Amino acid sequence: METKRVLTVIGTRPEAIKLAPVVRELARRPDRFRSRVCVTGQHRELLDQAMAELQLEADHDLDVMRPDQSLAGLTTLALERLDRLIADTEPDVVLVQGDTTTAMAGALAGFYHGTTVGHVEAGLRTGNPQAPFPEEVNRRLIADLADLHFAPTEAAQAALLREGVAEERIRVTGNTGIDSLLWMRERVDTVPPESVPSAVRALPASHPLLLVTGHRRESFNGGLAAVCEAVRTVADAVPDLVVVYPVHLNPQVQATARAALADHGRIHLVEPVGYAGFVWLLNRATVVLSDSGGVQEEAPALGTPVLVTREETERLEAVAAGSARLVGHDPDRIEAELIRLITDPAARAPMTVPRFPFGDGTAARQIVDALEEWLQGGE
Ligand code: UD1
Ligand code: UDP
Repeated sequence: METKRVLTVIGTRPEAIKLAPVVRELARRPDRFRSRVCVTGQHRELLDQAMAELQLEADHDLDVMRPDQSLAGLTTLALERLDRLIADTEPDVVLVQGDTTTAMAGALAGFYHGTTVGHVEAGLRTGNPQAPFPEEVNRRLIADLADLHFAPTEAAQAALLREGVAEERIRVTGNTGIDSLLWMRERVDTVPPESVPSAVRALPASHPLLLVTGHRRESFNGGLAAVCEAVRTVADAVPDLVVVYPVHLNPQVQATARAALADHGRIHLVEPVGYAGFVWLLNRATVVLSDSGGVQEEAPALGTPVLVTREETERLEAVAAGSARLVGHDPDRIEAELIRLITDPAARAPMTVPRFPFGDGTAARQIVDALEEWLQGGE
């Protein structure tokens, strides 16, 4: 096989985390692939922070982020700049990951140029176009645009088959997020990284610690505020509980979280924590409360119970495995579940068994093997 040019497109923090193992694997095979990384810069600080920790370097930076950006504005800028880059660099393959605006624009730009498009983390579905919004529709569009679909699980593969994607274009590989998690866990000692807030570093190992994250657009209309209300009630009800909430940089999230929680002595609203620090916190936490996709995959592998503040999830594997529970946005339900899990070790125990429903940490190798096989077949 002649050397193929692969352009990996990254926009946000989770894309950097989940594509780093793939970029590393491509770099291991220089006789087969000439790998280039394009960051759209859909995220700026969060992306730069993750890229540095994952030892990823961008060959192209499209610098599209604007404060409080609209979906249409972001899509327009990303599509225009990706189109130009693909025209200039003529890659053989464009790789995108997940369901962000960057991934959708990358797949569309690749498709317009007739370039082979590979989709990492293909086939996740809730079936509801409004949740998560706009990601559920982004990933359906990408499924139409992509030539190769790297499904993390059998359920994701089944969803793609139901939509008419040909079986030979799908590979079940596991999720590359687990590859990254295991890579980082090896590098994170028992000693907490510098980025872990000092209030947490000082705590004894068994002290109850609640980790919170939240950023989904569909929760801006009251859902996130309700989650914050529940967190405050729980902090009041459990006298020694310490809460750490690394607040996403989205201005709407910042405003809601700070208005609800800034003045509570045991609730630490902090800047987004670097990936190493976050993995340490996730491993250390008694319970994590989150609407994040990545956290739903990572927490089961670390044996940390995760309560998912969404009405529906595309990651039912974690729920079926017994590691995650869907709690929606109802403050009473969230409070009851949190208090039970934090204060009752017996209730927590079944959720603290490490489980790997999203793969064994070899997804990137499987993806690059499949890519190689596919490109060879096409010659
Ligand atoms: C995006 C993705 C979402 C993903 C999330 C990961 C879309 C539609 N959404 O949501 O799927 O789960 O990233 O975190 O693609 N901001 C900064 N600095 C940063 C990052 C964001 O200031 O480093 C602020 C900016 O004001 C920006 C806003 O956050 O305009 C929103 O960023 P955007 O990427 O549009 O949406 P997210 O909510 O981060
Ligand atoms: N993460 C991080 N620092 C934080 C919060 C999260 O490094 O302060 C990591 C986390 O380990 C996971 C990813 O970021 O790998 C999840 O990103 P996010 O929740 O923003 O996006 P989603 O996964 O929902 O798309």
